[in-house]
Amino acid sequence: MFKVEDIRKDFPILSRKVNDKPLVYFDNAATSQTPKQVIDTIVDYYSNYNANIHRGVHTLSQEATDLYEQARHKIQAHFNAKFSHEIIFTSGTTHSINLVANGFSSILKKEDEIIVSALEHHSNIVPWQMLCERTGATLKVIPMNQEGELVISEFDKILSEKTKLVFVNHVSNALGTINPIEYLIEKTHQFGAAILIDGAQSCPHIKPDLQALNVDFYVTSAHKICGPTGVGMLYGKEEWLKKLPPYQGGGEMIAEVTFEKTTYADLPHKFEAGTPNICGGIAFGAAIDYMNAIGFNTIASYENDLLEYATNELLKIDGLKIYGTSKHKTAVISFNLENIHPYDVGSILDKLGIAVRTGHHCAQPIMDYYKIPGTVRASFSFYNTKAEIDTLVNGVKKAKMMLS
Ligand code: ALA
Repeated sequence: MFKVEDIRKDFPILSRKVNDKPLVYFDNAATSQTPKQVIDTIVDYYSNYNANIHRGVHTLSQEATDLYEQARHKIQAHFNAKFSHEIIFTSGTTHSINLVANGFSSILKKEDEIIVSALEHHSNIVPWQMLCERTGATLKVIPMNQEGELVISEFDKILSEKTKLVFVNHVSNALGTINPIEYLIEKTHQFGAAILIDGAQSCPHIKPDLQALNVDFYVTSAHKICGPTGVGMLYGKEEWLKKLPPYQGGGEMIAEVTFEKTTYADLPHKFEAGTPNICGGIAFGAAIDYMNAIGFNTIASYENDLLEYATNELLKIDGLKIYGTSKHKTAVISFNLENIHPYDVGSILDKLGIAVRTGHHCAQPIMDYYKIPGTVRASFSFYNTKAEIDTLVNGVKKAKMMLS
């Protein structure tokens, strides 16, 4: 039985005060909070196993290596990748995307096209623009509609024999829209192109089955899923990872080095140059264990309840507009109060102990579409409560009174 009061005890930060008020943490889409099970894993690592991995015959190094590789297997099992060597540890989603974009520099040709969506985070736009600059390929965009959904009929039109790659997030960070990735993957493959799904915003809510999805690349960050910052993953199908050249040169990614020629290590090490975030990788595994112990169906149904409650309560406030009204969305509400700058609302909420994100959320094309400078974004997690949503609603009412 899911009891939010018990769950909240796992998160030490949730009992702190901000500006003398109990913290209400609604910035989960930016980063999730860390349960003590994950914090304990980090403390345990530095207290007992801290050593460099894959490098020493000594006991500590072997213990650290075992824990790190066990974490890779946990991640493989969670996302249902076929092989553990298809999971590459990176510093996070942005690193993973840049790794793939760099790899395609030597594959793409001038006449090729790549497709991104209007709902992307800057990290899933800029690396592909840079790739187009390097290769001469053309970037095409799947447009969005007023509900904050992709216009899939337009995708069908721009997809062609020229398309080599498609990049779409599973969930929009700014609006919470869940994109129809099953359709996008299948359609992309009909044209022989590859597709990368950015799972940074979906992985805290939806457990994907990468083999069933048949996706070519999937990327995410540990800190969105109760793990630490500075670590994430790239999943790539074995055939793609073998085809792509290494991203960075250095220790650990080589088979043999001479001044005449270097040969590269097998997967996954080919893409893991240098000492990795060892503790982060192990803690990523612990975070996945933690979330699975609660269960993703339980998480999704509880969060949907919060979303529905918060949407109804916020819409009772005159002059409040929600951006992103798709039927298929995660527990994210982006909103504005008429004629009031989101930054001002966010500052007043902070004084009340409520953490929300304000601004363009690294998704300026979405804000340009709506012709707004930004929004106030409240993003919920399974450790939030309806009482906290009441605090938010009262805070927004107060902000409106003070700023009108
Ligand atoms: N991508 C993160 C967000 O949406 C940082 O806030």
